[in-house]
Amino acid sequence: MAVKKIKDGVYYVGAVHWDRRLFDELIPLPDGTSYNAYIIQGTNKTALIDAVDPATIEQLFFNLKKLNVKKIDYVISNHAEQDHAGGIPYVLKEYPEAKVVTNEKCKSMLMDLLLIPDDKFIVIKEDDKIDLGGKTLQFFMIPWVHWPETMATYLIEDKILFPCDFFGSHTATSAIFDEEHFYIPAKRYYAEIMSPFRNNVRNNLEKVKKLNIEIIAPSHGIIYKNPKLIMDAYADWASDNVKNEAIIAFVSMHDSTRKMAEYLREALVERGIDVHYFNLTVTDIGELAMTLIDAATLILGAPTVLAGMHPVGAYAAYLANALRPKTKFASLITSYGWGEKASEVLKSFFTNFKGEILPPVIAKGYPKENDFKELDRLADDILKKHKEIKLI
Ligand code: FEO
Repeated sequence: MAVKKIKDGVYYVGAVHWDRRLFDELIPLPDGTSYNAYIIQGTNKTALIDAVDPATIEQLFFNLKKLNVKKIDYVISNHAEQDHAGGIPYVLKEYPEAKVVTNEKCKSMLMDLLLIPDDKFIVIKEDDKIDLGGKTLQFFMIPWVHWPETMATYLIEDKILFPCDFFGSHTATSAIFDEEHFYIPAKRYYAEIMSPFRNNVRNNLEKVKKLNIEIIAPSHGIIYKNPKLIMDAYADWASDNVKNEAIIAFVSMHDSTRKMAEYLREALVERGIDVHYFNLTVTDIGELAMTLIDAATLILGAPTVLAGMHPVGAYAAYLANALRPKTKFASLITSYGWGEKASEVLKSFFTNFKGEILPPVIAKGYPKENDFKELDRLADDILKKHKEIKLI
């Protein structure tokens, strides 16, 4: 990706990973991703904010060459994860006079993960400043979005916040200021990366709101010239608010659980509840994670197989639990042949779930009249519960 000017002396020099389709060998990237890095040139010193994933390091060096950057004094490392910090050892090789500026915890992680030697670091603390000559960098700790060491760098004179992953979005685009299309990639990113840390998101949001911010320049995706857009979206996603929506995420071996899922879907729709319906064998888990941001209820559908829950259903249950959704109600619809085990597995997986587990619907084999009555009972339960809480 080409160099883009943000303000006088402030440039985007990052990389776009157009064809990356998986992050952490787990998270789907249907639209690719980007690793934003920024050069800030003061009258005395030059700083690079974050590096890039090593797979795209040539793009960073191409941009630094285009910008004729002969010397980098400081590499600001806001976050030790390799998609931003992995390029730092390459930068230090190319610019041997550069020092890595970060907090103590991030330094320790960079030494462990990337073997950067101790004498390459300048350690800063909360509120510390570095003067580049007419451009002053100030540092704020924003822990647990989504690692413990994460910090944000604020460029005082230009009122730009560089918060690394916080406010990021996984999207590969040359239109880095395209705020019009920010919502879905940012929501997907929030759902996959930030949602397990909802309380930390809220705390850090309050903290950065106190700054006078004109531009938010994260290290993934869109750069915001209207910071309110992404800050308001984060406030909504991290709130306790849920919507009159239910998720049905199911896997079915011989159509019994599928029939139950279809019946429940229609029963919920008839009761005025919007349904997100996922066949887990073909579902992008990012889509499922996004619905967990808003839906009041999660229904997992999975049969018993091999004396436990079907592994595809178990994977979804494990993942949903790990994401710590704010979903208020959950239940199970399941079918079995000779011994039911899925409901036990669900309880053992939902250790983080703070809401109420509604009585499941369990069918022996293909669902019959009484099972359909039970599915209507579950739909009635969900409707009643939704009416009892504040929905938006
Ligand atoms: Fe984009 Fe947590 O790294």
